[in-house]
Amino acid sequence: MLKVGLLTSGGDCQSLNATMRGIVKTLECNCKDGVEFYGFKDGYRGLMYGNYQVMGPRDFRGLLTRGGTILGTSRTPFKYIDQPDEHGLNKVEAMKSTYRKLKLDCLCVLGGNGSLKTANRLSEEGLNVVGLPKTIDNDTWGTEMTFGFPSAIDIATKTIDDIHTTASSHGRVFVIEIMGHKVGWIPLYAGVAGGADIILIPEIPYDIDNVMDAIDKRDSHGSRFSIVVVAEGAKTKEEAALSKKEYKKKLAARTVPSVAYELADEIAKRGNYEVRVAIPGHTQRGGDPSAYDRIFATQCGVEAGKCILEGTFGDMIAQIDGKMSRIALSKIAGKLKMVDPECDLIHEARMMGISFGDK
Ligand code: F6P
Repeated sequence: MLKVGLLTSGGDCQSLNATMRGIVKTLECNCKDGVEFYGFKDGYRGLMYGNYQVMGPRDFRGLLTRGGTILGTSRTPFKYIDQPDEHGLNKVEAMKSTYRKLKLDCLCVLGGNGSLKTANRLSEEGLNVVGLPKTIDNDTWGTEMTFGFPSAIDIATKTIDDIHTTASSHGRVFVIEIMGHKVGWIPLYAGVAGGADIILIPEIPYDIDNVMDAIDKRDSHGSRFSIVVVAEGAKTKEEAALSKKEYKKKLAARTVPSVAYELADEIAKRGNYEVRVAIPGHTQRGGDPSAYDRIFATQCGVEAGKCILEGTFGDMIAQIDGKMSRIALSKIAGKLKMVDPECDLIHEARMMGISFGDK
């Protein structure tokens, strides 16, 4: 009997359950000696404190379309992994001990960058680990795609679509804040899909004068409204030149809730426009997975199942050159996949007159 541990860690997304279903079905269909699953509750915490549920394939039925995670999740920052918990527990040793006590054959970790760093650590400590790239942000290094990203783009695009009609009726400038603190994948993709006029992402620092020029140009050409999509972590050129410490200090001194409000105030101050803010926030992680997300999640689950059947461990499932593949956890741990400012989509967007606020 094969014993497989499963956990979902970090911020959730729409396709965690669909991915687990892919793993479970693959093993159920191809494992001659049977398989038993150990679902750890609330991410690494469940593994640390031995909080788990023994599960069979039946427990994973009907999950293809269900968002969130049936196992629950939590954030367990990697930077604190070597610090004992409040009761003096050594977290890494506790996780190893649960794994060994249960005599697991392997552990599947569905997580983003921080969670995959911990997965790599557990692999280095001798556990059989398979990592799966989860995040709406699509910033996991080593894979072209992460599950969660396709659903998030659809939700963010729907927000931009909906705002278009009201912005046009009232002749307003709308600033729409889209998730992405360090990277701008969702704002870029949703911005293009939703026909935004200006897209501001962390990878391309902007100048407010350029943003105003783009709005004024539309106005002078008779457009009654403008849509500015701004990533949560978009920075001005001046902010980008600050040290990490100085930038944090500047953020702490902010008198408005977020970048969108700051930008909206600035636009209203500089031009004769009626400006409004819209923020879809956590709806971008919520609801059911999109059709494409279900497909990619299923492909990731099947590939993880294949790794387990072959006995290949220490890898993360990845899409490389459009194909399902694997990459060593040690190669991807601690790296971030940023948007390349010279990429085709940005070039194409610029060709159509979309401004990124940098020129
Ligand atoms: O999962 C990534 C992410 O969605 C970011 O884009 C966002 O800024 C962050 O998580 C917020 O998550 P939470 O409120 O759960 O900490």
